[in-house]
Amino acid sequence: MNTVNNSRRNFIKNSATLALGTTLPISLVELAFADSSENFTFAYISDSHIQQIKGTQFVRNWDRGLIRAVAETNLLTPKPDFVIFGGDLAQLGSKAELDHGAEMLSALSGKVHHVMGEHDYYLDLGEYWEKLFGPQYYSFDHKGVHFIVLNSIRTYDDWTFKRWPTNEQRMLEMAGLDNPNGSPFMVGEEQRKWLKGDLAKVAKATPVVVFSHSPLQKIYKGWNFWTEDADEIQALLRPFKQVSVIYGHVHQIQYNQIGNISFNSVMATAWPWPYPQAYAQAEQYLPKLTVPMNRADPFFERDATGWQFINLANGRVDLNYTLYNNTSRAVRFNQAKKHPEDVAYRSDGERTPPQKHY
Ligand SMILES: [Fe+2]
Ligand SMILES: [Fe+2]
Repeated sequence: MNTVNNSRRNFIKNSATLALGTTLPISLVELAFADSSENFTFAYISDSHIQQIKGTQFVRNWDRGLIRAVAETNLLTPKPDFVIFGGDLAQLGSKAELDHGAEMLSALSGKVHHVMGEHDYYLDLGEYWEKLFGPQYYSFDHKGVHFIVLNSIRTYDDWTFKRWPTNEQRMLEMAGLDNPNGSPFMVGEEQRKWLKGDLAKVAKATPVVVFSHSPLQKIYKGWNFWTEDADEIQALLRPFKQVSVIYGHVHQIQYNQIGNISFNSVMATAWPWPYPQAYAQAEQYLPKLTVPMNRADPFFERDATGWQFINLANGRVDLNYTLYNNTSRAVRFNQAKKHPEDVAYRSDGERTPPQKHY
């Protein structure tokens, strides 16, 4: 474990150097094993939402978030074994946006694995994305860990194929965070069947890490922080000893534990989503906001974007969030309690987040 801690310190030292005047909207994931020679890391970049204004003009802020992540990923020490891009590379799924995003990502050294986001998908149902990045769902093994990538943002066929007069309108309806015309995300029968077959070949003691875009748990349906067939996916993952699900889409820190499965989100490079009102932790005294803001603090372009250093020790993930304009946070797996917890709130065993209990 000393090796892990040392490499973590090196990483943080290097990151701290990089952090001068920057945001680091990336994640570095470290997998730690009893034999430290087997340890490895990977980086995680997500939710860049590259948005075309017209022609070769794109929203500058979102471009900058991705360019910065790519540059800093290339400078990481230790060098990550691979990079995951967690979905929502584009805003409205157009070739121009995907091409521009792919061009920025092409500066990454090393292998990049891609996860499909709804903003990438609902214009042409992933056709062009597949040409650029490969299959929408797949698995791979790396140094003793089984990694699975799922497209978790599909939905009912009626909604996808019958409801909208144009593909552009379909894309716009799914792009809204709280649009009642949207439809719940799902992995779907085809992928569940594939997943069952894929997992049948994996030993139950092998650590399994699943990447999805939406949470494979039901958090808040109104904003599609939700996957309709999450229960079925969880059932397929239940026989495995150590399972971690890492997802984007929510643009905020979330963590949860359901049985053997740890859930952790990563931050976006583009903007933070506010916490849904369903998370309300106290009586509200502010006037109701009727115009959604796209940043937590508009004075800080990179507010609430950031990166995570994720340590997967004993098959469980620990996430260290380093946020440029915000206080650093750590969400670690508590081996005694068998669930992740926010160290800032819970390390003394007494302070608890000001959450409302239902
Ligand atoms: Fe997103
Ligand atoms: Fe998304």
